[in-house]
Parts: sequence; C-alpha cells; structure tokens
Amino acid sequence: MATTQSVTRYLSPSQVDLDKIASLCKRRGFIFQSSEIYGGLNSVWDYGPLGVELKNNVKRAWWRAMVQERDDVVGLDAAILMHPQVWHASGHVAGFADPLIDCKVCKQRFRADHLWAAFVNGVKDKDGAPVLVTGEGSTPEEAAAEMAPRAKKLLKASLTEIKPVLVKDLADRDRVPCPACGAVGSLTEPRMFNLMFKTFLGPVEDESAVIYMRPETAQGIFANFDNVLTSSRMRLPFGIAQTGKAFRNEITTGHLTFRSREFEQMELEYFVRPEEGERWLQYWLEQRRGWYLKLGLRPDSLRLRQHEKEELAHYAKDCYDVEFTFPWGWAELEGIANRGDFDLTQHARSSGKKLAYFDPSTGSGEKGEHIVPYVIEPSGGVDRATLAFLIDAYDEEPPPAGTEEARVVLRLHPALAPVKVAVLPLSRKEPLVNMARDIARELRAPSAGSGWAVAYDDAQSIGRRYRRQDEQGTPYCVTVDFQSLEDKAVTIRERDTMSQVRVPVAELAAALRERLGL
Ligand code: GAP
Repeated sequence: MATTQSVTRYLSPSQVDLDKIASLCKRRGFIFQSSEIYGGLNSVWDYGPLGVELKNNVKRAWWRAMVQERDDVVGLDAAILMHPQVWHASGHVAGFADPLIDCKVCKQRFRADHLWAAFVNGVKDKDGAPVLVTGEGSTPEEAAAEMAPRAKKLLKASLTEIKPVLVKDLADRDRVPCPACGAVGSLTEPRMFNLMFKTFLGPVEDESAVIYMRPETAQGIFANFDNVLTSSRMRLPFGIAQTGKAFRNEITTGHLTFRSREFEQMELEYFVRPEEGERWLQYWLEQRRGWYLKLGLRPDSLRLRQHEKEELAHYAKDCYDVEFTFPWGWAELEGIANRGDFDLTQHARSSGKKLAYFDPSTGSGEKGEHIVPYVIEPSGGVDRATLAFLIDAYDEEPPPAGTEEARVVLRLHPALAPVKVAVLPLSRKEPLVNMARDIARELRAPSAGSGWAVAYDDAQSIGRRYRRQDEQGTPYCVTVDFQSLEDKAVTIRERDTMSQVRVPVAELAAALRERLGL
C-alpha cells in the first residue's frame, strides 16, 4: 500500500490507551476473555472473527519469511504433550520457576521479583515506624509509577522521587503491606513456584503418570533433531521452525494478552558450527527486526536490548530482546538467544541417543567428524506480536471541522489486515445490492487475490460503514453507487488518506492487487 508510509500519524504506541484497545478488541471481535459468560478465566483469551484472521496473518507472515522463502529452514509441528523426561533434561522441572509470595489475609499471589516497596519519608505508622507503600512491576520505573499516587495520598503533598526496593531483598519484610488488601505483615516468605501446568497421562492419577503442558515449543524441535536431520538431509547451518501453543501458569499477569497463561509461540532453532554462533546471532537480530518493520511497525517503536549476565536464562550464552514500546513501557516482544549446545547435549545425555551432526568434510583423516552444533533461537510470541501490531496501528484522527467524533483507524499493514476489501452498496435498493454482492463474490475468487477476506456490508449510512471498516483496519472499501449501474465503474476508498478513485469494475481486482501489494 504505497500511501502508508507518508500518512500523518497522530499517536505513537506509548500514547495509546490500552483500555481503548481492549474495548475495541471486544467491540469489533478481535479478542474476548475466555469463558466470559462464567465470569472469565484470568489471563486466558479467545480470538474472535477478526482476531483469528489477524493472528493467522501474523503466523502466515512469519512462516513465509522463516520457512518458505528460505532453503535452509524446514518446518515442524510437534505435539504439545511430550515425555516428561524432556522437561527434566531441559531443566524446566528443576528450574522453570518464579519466586512467589502469598498474602495470608486476602490470598492474592505476587511474584517476589515484581513486588516492590518504598519508604515514604516523614510519614509514620501508629508505632512510629516509617510508612511503606508497595506496588507491582517488572522494572523499578513501572513499580514507581504504580506506587506514586498512593504515596502522594499518604504524604498529602507532591512527591518528587520514589525509590523502589525489591520486597524479597528488603530486610524488614514484615512491615510491607499487601498491595492488594493493605494488610501489614501478611506476606509469606518467597517460595519457588514452577510455571508448568501438570496433567496425567492415562487413567491413573499418580506421580508416575504426571506429564506437562509444554511451556515452550522449542523442546519439540530438539527432541526431533535427529528425525529431521535424517529425513531431510539438511546441512549446517540449518534451522527447524515451529509455531504452536505453549502454557505457563504465570503469577503476574495483565496488560491484555501480553502475559497469558495459554499463548502461542513462533520459534526457530537454527543450528550452526559452534565457532559461528556469535555471527549468526547478529544475523538473526537483523532479520527479526527487519521482519517487524516490514510488517509496518515504526522504527521508533522497536529496540534491541542485550541481556545482562545475571539476566541470562540457564541455557543461554548470550541473548537479546526485541522490545516494543508498549503503553506501559518497553517490554519484550521476542527473545533471540545463543543457546550453545546445551539442549542437544542434555537430551543426548538423558536419552542415551547420539544427537550430533556428521560432517564428512572436516576432522582428521578421511572419516569426517561429529559436531554438536550450537543453536541460535529467535523465539517470538504470536499473541505479543499481534498485540504490538494492534497498538502500533491504532490511531485517532482529530474530528473534522464541525464534528465531534474522532476517526479511529487501525493502520494495519495490508498483509495483516483481517479484511482486505469491503464492498459497500450506497443503498439497499435491489439492483445495487445485486451488483455489489456479485463484485464481492468475484473478489473472493482465487483468481482475484489469493485468499483475500472480503466483507460485504449494506447496513447503516455509508459514513458509519466507512468508520466501521477503518476501526477494523480494512485497507480499501469499494463503493457501488447508482451511477455504477450505468457506467460499470465503482469507487475505491483508501483507509489511511480517505482518498477516492473511480475504476471500471473490469479492472477492480487488478487495481486492488496493485494497491494492496499482496
Ligand atoms: N524457547 C525460549 C523461550 O520460550 P521466552 O523468552 O520464555 O523464551 C519467548 O519466550 C517468547 O514467547 C517471548 O518473547 C514472548 O513473546 C512469548 N511469551 C513468553 N511467555 C509468554 C506469556 N506468558 N504470554 C504471552 N507470550 C509469552
């Protein structure tokens, strides 16, 4: 869509009100809370008619870029349920845990590494001790932002600075109030809480039947390394890609789908010679950043952040996060790690199977040698990417003179837009409706555009229908009017600029193909 780049944007992602996104998602059918009719299931989400199109478009764009447009990556669809030994070998049973604190009074749970406290100077409790306020957040900045209003209220004065201290590191934790109910001294000692969901395989519910819902798709790839290698005869460097569901019993949730308990990942495990690990890590950083930009995220909305040594996961030699400027601050969209040979080595040890690549061209003598490759892993979240695309696309145009209603537009890239074209007859009179329905049917045919989702809408005024399509991100509307019956031409209306152009029906599909660029 040639015009997207030059269009005036009114909101940056950090200015977007997340509540407005949540309400648009519900109103237009992008995202609903799971089991809403029963009061909802916390941090589990359903994708509605438009949401499923958007999410599928995100996954399709990833699969095209990561598998179909390359000759060094093949795909995989491993089962969600795996042998429990997989999760022992990967380190998840022992180590995939967060420090958890409970409130003994209100029974709320908090991640100790997200729970912060700060002293409010000059304000004393009834025993003369300084008053503490608490807040939650992944970073000190987030925590301070959450604590500031409460602290201001206590001080009854403006507060210039608030310095949060992690609760688990605080010596006198007994005086920290619960951020949910305010009870003092009710928080338990932190204890490690494993994030994997457990279930039972077969009819007997005992320890020997315990299996786990996978917390990442990656292990399905490592467990199939040898199968893929022998069946597809790939040569180093090569990758195995997979998208699919993952489950984590997250303690701290919120921010819509950002941290869900059931979510989807899109992961590539790219196997390389150990000495080439760092070079390929840099290569994938650029590729992945480029993918988000190509699909319309603004360069200012993205940054790459290298992990500090203490931050690295147990398997990682080096890691970067692709971060997006969400309305609540910079946060991880995708992790890109050099996992070294940790996973293949662990699974080889645990299974007793050799998991290595045989390279006939190296080694001493004629025989060649076995190499345990390093793996570079770009690991993205489908739901997080979808949320970021929604937030980045969201815009509110000031109301035109003489009106009061701002125009809400989702400036989604055409490849991601749930509906590519909407056909709108100007009136519900029969000849117009018939002509418009015929046009919509023709645009849906594979010969027009491959697999375009085309909407037809004849309800309400044309202005309202344009607004509806703008709000759901439809790049083009095709308006059929009375003159169309005479001159066999229709109007194409562009979402971002609202510009209009008249084209003969016979040339409509080609004109839309060119504009959509798909
Ligand atoms: N295999 C590596 C791995 O799983 P991770 O950083 O834990 O690494 C990768 O997860 C990506 O999966 C994250 O960058 C994020 O996009 C997504 N993700 C992780 N936990 C999530 C959650 N609870 N809800 C939504 N997306 C999540």
